[in-house]
Amino acid sequence: TTAPVLTIDGPSGSGKGTISRIVAQRLGWHYLDSGALYRAVGIAAGWADIDLSDASALVRCTFDTEIGFRDDAAGEPRVIVNGLDATDELRTETAGAAASAIAAIPEVRAALKDRQRVFRQLPGLVADGRDMGTVIFPDAAHKVFLTASADERAERRYKQLKDKGVSVTLDGLLREILARDARDASRAVAPLRPADDAVRIDTTGLGIDGVVALVLDVVSRPS
Ligand code: C5P
Repeated sequence: TTAPVLTIDGPSGSGKGTISRIVAQRLGWHYLDSGALYRAVGIAAGWADIDLSDASALVRCTFDTEIGFRDDAAGEPRVIVNGLDATDELRTETAGAAASAIAAIPEVRAALKDRQRVFRQLPGLVADGRDMGTVIFPDAAHKVFLTASADERAERRYKQLKDKGVSVTLDGLLREILARDARDASRAVAPLRPADDAVRIDTTGLGIDGVVALVLDVVSRPS
């Protein structure tokens, strides 16, 4: 039997990461953070001094980059890139912007396809990203598309980064979020859009528990 999949797509700051992790834990399912793969290639390209406009070098870099996921002793997820713990570097806006740039290259997306599909294992998978329901797991039994207003997404990011002691401005974050949204939605391959059969959930003004409950509801519906 093939494992059931719940896809959770949406723009940056929609709460996908937080919600997906909690839902995966509740269901006892595996979790795929597909954005981390794009971010990992983005920072590996940076380490190798590859220009973000050099598509063929970026494609080679995608094949060459080793990416591993594991939880540390405290149960916190860590991402290992070419043998180095890159978890903190992966979360920076620089890594996000690099990811978004390389994610627009069709051969890079193709090279990462199988590396995402291997996460589909019993008893099930929660897949978090931009094109999980449309391209990577189009046959998923359960699909969710999370949104939130740009202002609210910028505020959430702001709080997250401030808690980590990163100095940023709300205004700057809002501008970055809008720029990344525009790039992700307008690219020719796998643009950010809800799958036709996705349930859309607007999380503006909702707390984490409220969103988790709505998503679990989608999974318990007969499909
Ligand atoms: O979700 P996250 O912010 O980590 O993703 C970083 C970038 O990677 C996104 O802005 C997007 O350009 C790209 N991405 C993608 N497809 C995915 C996941 C992420 O294109 N499935």
